[in-house]
Amino acid sequence: MSAGRLRVAALISGRGSNLKALLDAAADPACPFEIVHVFSNRPDAGGLAHAAAAGVPATVIDHKLFASREAFDMALDDALAAVRPDVVAFAGFMRILTNAFVERWRGKAVNIHPSLLPLFKGLHPQRQALAAGVAVSGCTVHWVTPGVDEGPVIARAEVPVLHGDTEDALAARILVEEHRLYPRALAMIASGAARFPEG
Ligand code: GAR
Repeated sequence: MSAGRLRVAALISGRGSNLKALLDAAADPACPFEIVHVFSNRPDAGGLAHAAAAGVPATVIDHKLFASREAFDMALDDALAAVRPDVVAFAGFMRILTNAFVERWRGKAVNIHPSLLPLFKGLHPQRQALAAGVAVSGCTVHWVTPGVDEGPVIARAEVPVLHGDTEDALAARILVEEHRLYPRALAMIASGAARFPEG
């Protein structure tokens, strides 16, 4: 047992490489956070295997089985509340949530996004960065507030955009930094160095 560590519930939709980075970091007893539960809205999410390998319980809440966005969010909300997380970490969780859900988890939910927010919100941020011709992109961990990929920034990491970059090449370079940044951002929350700015 590891009493005193920040209790993190992770939400995934797919591959789960960021989840793996968090699980790997939390495997160190000195890590100030632990992943207590993983939730996926897709039964076929590759990241579920990372949870199983790390011995972390995982629950699939398949959004396709719910009649409405509200009904899915209420089921996720109930399941999350049952594991009493200090922080809910979106790790490639590709669902837009209702404002009611976001308000309920305000100050506790964080997200990672592969751009230097507020630039390039939404889908295909690496493609957006290439189209804009920027020399530097990167990734951002931020508090979740209503509005996709908005909310106060916790930490960012920069990555160069190289001549001749493809979307995949840039995404891979950013992903390396995501895997470093997300554990660091959660450690900042655990230590109190990062707090949700109230009011
Ligand atoms: C990551 O690049 C993450 O930043 C991005 O999806 C990918 C998930 O990869 N999230 C978003 O774009 C959220 N708006 P992963 O499943 O291997 O962690």
